[in-house]
Amino acid sequence: MNNKLIVALDVDSFDKAKKLINKLSPYVNIFKVGSELFVSAGPGIIEYINKKRKKVFLDLKFFDIPNTVAKATLAAARHNVFMLTLHVSGGSDMLKKAKKALKDKNKMPLLLGVTVLTSKEVKSRREIIKLAHLAKKESLDGIVCSARETTSVKKACGKNFIVVNPGIRPSWAKEDDQKRITTPKEAVENGADFIVIGRPITEAKNPALAAKRILKELEG
Ligand code: C5P
Repeated sequence: MNNKLIVALDVDSFDKAKKLINKLSPYVNIFKVGSELFVSAGPGIIEYINKKRKKVFLDLKFFDIPNTVAKATLAAARHNVFMLTLHVSGGSDMLKKAKKALKDKNKMPLLLGVTVLTSKEVKSRREIIKLAHLAKKESLDGIVCSARETTSVKKACGKNFIVVNPGIRPSWAKEDDQKRITTPKEAVENGADFIVIGRPITEAKNPALAAKRILKELEG
């Protein structure tokens, strides 16, 4: 079982997500629940994944006033998620309060900061490093960034600072709307702790086969 691959369940119903989870469970340990699925299926989907003894990456990318984000973070933690996201550009106070909200939880989820979405162009890598530094300063556990920035982020924030890369495309998959893309193997070689892959697996004719193909590429 590979512990780096996260499959993004970007579908619009509990039933579709359930089918994917059941097909992929023999190969995948972590599932990402984003806004589309969460709004469609509700927190029950988190419970379903946890019951299957799989981990949940709750990617709702919180960005609001500090009090609201802190309360949403605590609510997410109560659902027993493995990790969750908030936008680093929400600022110091928002990040600090979110982290503080988790202080008394015995099962603290990993708190990850979203830097710049991988569907966007970045003018300079410094933009990402600045956000990574801010996330680290406010005691977040890591960040989400493109694989092209992993090496610089690890250098700037230390090797224990978690890096999650979306925008991953195997050479045989189409790019969709992602711009700063990298192959799974390159991303892991660059030092990613986790890679997020959605459509190349979830929209494949045979999702289990696509996942297996990716895992094989990671091993080889
Ligand atoms: O289908 P695809 O592999 O492009 O899915 C990528 C997933 O990663 C999506 O669920 C998207 O919301 C998420 N993501 C991203 N860029 C970020 C953070 C998350 O593409 N910076």
